[in-house]
Amino acid sequence: MHEPVKHMEWVGDAVSGHLRLLDQTQLPSQTEWLDCRDVQSVWQAIRRLSVRGAPAIGIAAAYGCVLGAQQRDARAGFLAAADHLATSRPTAVNLFRAIERLRKSAAPIRDENLRDHLLSEALAIHEEDRAACRAIGEHGLKLLRELTGDRLHLLTHCNAGALATGGIGTATAPMYRAAELGLPITILADETRPLLQGSRLTAWELSQAGIDVSIITDSTAATAMAQKRITAVITGADRIAANGDAANKIGTYGVAVLARHHGIPFVIAAPTSTIDLDCPSGADIPIEHRAAEEITEGFGRRTAPGDARVFSPAFDVTPAELITAIVTERGVIRPVNQAGIAAQFG
Ligand code: MRU
Repeated sequence: MHEPVKHMEWVGDAVSGHLRLLDQTQLPSQTEWLDCRDVQSVWQAIRRLSVRGAPAIGIAAAYGCVLGAQQRDARAGFLAAADHLATSRPTAVNLFRAIERLRKSAAPIRDENLRDHLLSEALAIHEEDRAACRAIGEHGLKLLRELTGDRLHLLTHCNAGALATGGIGTATAPMYRAAELGLPITILADETRPLLQGSRLTAWELSQAGIDVSIITDSTAATAMAQKRITAVITGADRIAANGDAANKIGTYGVAVLARHHGIPFVIAAPTSTIDLDCPSGADIPIEHRAAEEITEGFGRRTAPGDARVFSPAFDVTPAELITAIVTERGVIRPVNQAGIAAQFG
């Protein structure tokens, strides 16, 4: 089995180093690296989904703040970068968490130490996410083995994999762990319209790692469930509200409804950095809307009439009542409700 793909790293020191990213918009046909040497290139990489997935966005933004501090006035450059990067995408709370953490920790730091401080904090955010993914893998696999009686035939939606995090992913972490242990496991990856993160990214990274994965169109999930090809669903999240409602890639809610209809457990895997206690419910989660062209001429070919209007929320909210369990690095939240979420935070 291969190691999951590495897709993001800081190259060099805090004064003149830069952020290196695998350009996810080019996958799976090309593996092109992007060298981000200023804040705007990080902002654009996040906005156009060259780097995407909630934890990965937070990590990239943290490195982007280091780039901001490379200006002559390090503090002014950092603060401007923090403000700007916070406008790149609205839904994944990890972005705001990472920026806020840098802002708070940098406040008492002397100007001459600021760049080194920001880099070590960004590296720590990256490393903590790597460790969180590992722990999610352990807790998640244990839960899935219980829920499925060791029949690990999982459906996932979008990409909550290594490409979306600093480690082995969230929804994919139990898959990588099962493969490490030599347990039989099969994955169905929803293609994930309109930008195909499931087929372009999840199927790519799992097959690179030697994990048995098949792609289905999003609309095949109901049939696959009816034919008992799926024993559990596991997805990531971009933001989980205090009551357990969870925002994730558009289509996740539909999958959860289908899972409930077919009596299949529906699990969310996410680090606690994705839980937003300031959001009382899913209705309070800001949902990004994407450009019409991603639907009308995705991947360069026009597939709709020129004057077609489009409704394109990038995320939807799965109500807590449809979620069997949430797995974080701290353990399993079950049942999923306000008290369960609060208990994880002591
Ligand atoms: O628009 P994207 O590709 O950033 O959406 C990503 C997702 O919805 C993921 O499932 C989520 O961020 C969890 S990543 C561990």
